[in-house]
Amino acid sequence: MNESPSPPQSDADSTSLDVDFQIACRHRLRFTDDVFGKDAQVLADLLESSEGRGARVQFWLDEHVLEHRPDLKNQIHRFARQFRDRFDVVGNTQVVPGGEAVKNDVHIIERMLKVFHEADLDRRSYIVVIGGGAVLDAVGFAAAIAHRGIRLVRLPTTTLAQADSGIGVKNSVNLFQKKNWIGTFCVPWGVVNDKELLSSLSDRDFRCGFSEAVKVALLKDPELFRLICQSTEDIRTRQGNCWRIIRESAAWHMQHITRGGDPFEMQEARPLDYGHWSAHRLESLSEFELRHGEAVAIGVAIDTVYSARVHGLSESVADSVLNCLNELGLLVSHPAIQQEQQLLKGLEEFRQHLGGRLTVTMLNDVGSPLNIHSIDHEEMLVAVRHVMESTRQNSATDPHST
Ligand SMILES: NC(=O)c1ccc[n+]([C@@H]2O[C@H](COP(=O)([O-])OP(=O)(O)OC[C@H]3O[C@@H](n4cnc5c(N)ncnc54)[C@H](O)[C@@H]3O)[C@@H](O)[C@H]2O)c1
Ligand SMILES: [Zn+2]
Repeated sequence: MNESPSPPQSDADSTSLDVDFQIACRHRLRFTDDVFGKDAQVLADLLESSEGRGARVQFWLDEHVLEHRPDLKNQIHRFARQFRDRFDVVGNTQVVPGGEAVKNDVHIIERMLKVFHEADLDRRSYIVVIGGGAVLDAVGFAAAIAHRGIRLVRLPTTTLAQADSGIGVKNSVNLFQKKNWIGTFCVPWGVVNDKELLSSLSDRDFRCGFSEAVKVALLKDPELFRLICQSTEDIRTRQGNCWRIIRESAAWHMQHITRGGDPFEMQEARPLDYGHWSAHRLESLSEFELRHGEAVAIGVAIDTVYSARVHGLSESVADSVLNCLNELGLLVSHPAIQQEQQLLKGLEEFRQHLGGRLTVTMLNDVGSPLNIHSIDHEEMLVAVRHVMESTRQNSATDPHST
């Protein structure tokens, strides 16, 4: 039966009424081989029609994806025709700048909103966005604030977004020259991880996603970590186990969001940000010459070495993490990492972004993270220098590092 219709009670003379409540959400994740080919039905099924008339659907596309896949516009067109009795694809496919450029100009958001408005999109319409994590973030932000939320279906086109950010419940753009300064928490309507959409990705960007897979494996799943260590060749050659690793990494993110108890990051710990206090700093110190995935690999390596020096992680595990990242060609050298004191400022930026006291995740063992609230700066500098040496060796010898 329904719950009592009476309002929550407070004491007669009380001026406070505190009520805890929960929101039911569904997170939909699909895996396809060719979403605009043989698996088109999967996407069509996500775009449910609402209230007896076909929903309005608008497609948004990363310009660099389009550059490499000029056929995509036609494929979207064919998809629209194939399912025209189920939903209306409105307007032309919209193209936006790829990479961080789309997040660095806040006026682009206003232009997106104008396009939504002119297409009469409403809260039961769908925005389907195809692109890297940056484009998903920016279009996702505009979708979240228009009408207080238009349904968003993400088709991530990088391994990083398929294994990590595309599954998340955040969006943002950069403001005041700070990463992700405005944004919202918002559960996407659905996410489709499609193999074919990764085909045009450069080898460098393809490898980058696996630093997030290493990260989530270190936090949650020793088996997955072993699998990644054994599959570095598969990953470099884009075959074999790499699809399974993306899938398992995405599933762990999904599990963390839906079962971890803190999808909107209200608590102080952010375990999925392992290695990210320095990674974010390295991205900006390198003026984004380092990719997010490369910066994360360096950040994970630094916190792993620190964990071994200060928090009881065994040295052999720390060595295997560095070896694995090295074999993936992810520990690339960059002068930014030599700016040690500037790098350490990342700790304070990380604290400020969250508010409250500093909380950083470290590792006691693979699958056994711990939260700490202070950092020994001398030990951290030793860890940074150790990783710096590894990156130097790697870039000198590894043909995959550029
Ligand atoms: N919302 C979150 O929870 C979250 C989490 C982590 C990272 N992020 C954000 O994600 C962004 C990084 O995303 P990314 O690593 O996916 O990189 P990206 O979006 O910056 O893409 C890298 C480059 O590859 C291009 N590209 C993308 N897919 C392609 C394809 N299939 N073929 C050819 N070119 C392609 C892009 O246009 C871009 O130039 C950052 O802005 C980061 O802040 C968000
Ligand atoms: Zn990340």
